[in-house]
Amino acid sequence: MTNDSHDALIETPDERIGFGIDVGGSGIKGAPVDLVTGKLLTKKYRLPTPIESSPEAVAEVLSAVVSHFELPAGAHIGVTFPGVIKNGVAQTAANVDKRWIGTDVAGVTRDATGHSAFVVNDADAAGYAEAAYGAALGQQGSVLVLTLGTGIGSALIHDGVLVPNFELGHLELDGYDAEKRAASSVKDREELSYPEWAERLQRYFAHVEFLFSPDLFVVGGGVSKDHKEFLPLLDLTTPIIPAKLRNKAGIVGAAALAAEND
Ligand code: BGC
Repeated sequence: MTNDSHDALIETPDERIGFGIDVGGSGIKGAPVDLVTGKLLTKKYRLPTPIESSPEAVAEVLSAVVSHFELPAGAHIGVTFPGVIKNGVAQTAANVDKRWIGTDVAGVTRDATGHSAFVVNDADAAGYAEAAYGAALGQQGSVLVLTLGTGIGSALIHDGVLVPNFELGHLELDGYDAEKRAASSVKDREELSYPEWAERLQRYFAHVEFLFSPDLFVVGGGVSKDHKEFLPLLDLTTPIIPAKLRNKAGIVGAAALAAEND
């Protein structure tokens, strides 16, 4: 199935294999996924996201990532997108080229790759993966997964069922769009120390906790690998834990949701 085929892929029955692509701000990466374990079956294949991330430019990279793997004809693939998605169409584009708004992302993917696609918000994919295979596996009730990166993504999963497009990064807080104060890109840009950034996270998470009373918070995004630097500084009633699947969560969640929505 892929140029990098290895034993795990060869030994996995076809019906257990899904394929996910994560479209991020810096890279577009794909891999086949074991839908039972949530593990990648080969190494990810990653190409840089074009600087000007127009639909046409991204379509070319999607095509190159898919062609790297020899997918069976008719394979249905999962693709993440960093904005609100309804029926495969992008409704918002807070941190990507605005030309995506109104674009049929599923159609663009199909035309570029020859494969039908299920398109899902990036945080929804990551959140779903954490609930199905990762940090929130087996958790009953409401899990809120917040991804801290260029923006703030969010996913609500209730008893294992995803409620799509929750968009809590754009809550208005103290007169600001919350992600403009508390995303990890803001920490980097303003050169905030972890304790300084944690004050902003405290304000944000306490507000989200007050509004939604989740049973568990899971914190994802690249910075979650440094969770020991900031999660212990937060004072919340709700348990808060780091994501487990890290930078694989988008690929895994997209593949799993595509298989469910085939
Ligand atoms: C977008 C979300 C996205 C998040 C993380 C936000 O600005 O509105 O849809 O999930 O960034 O990429």
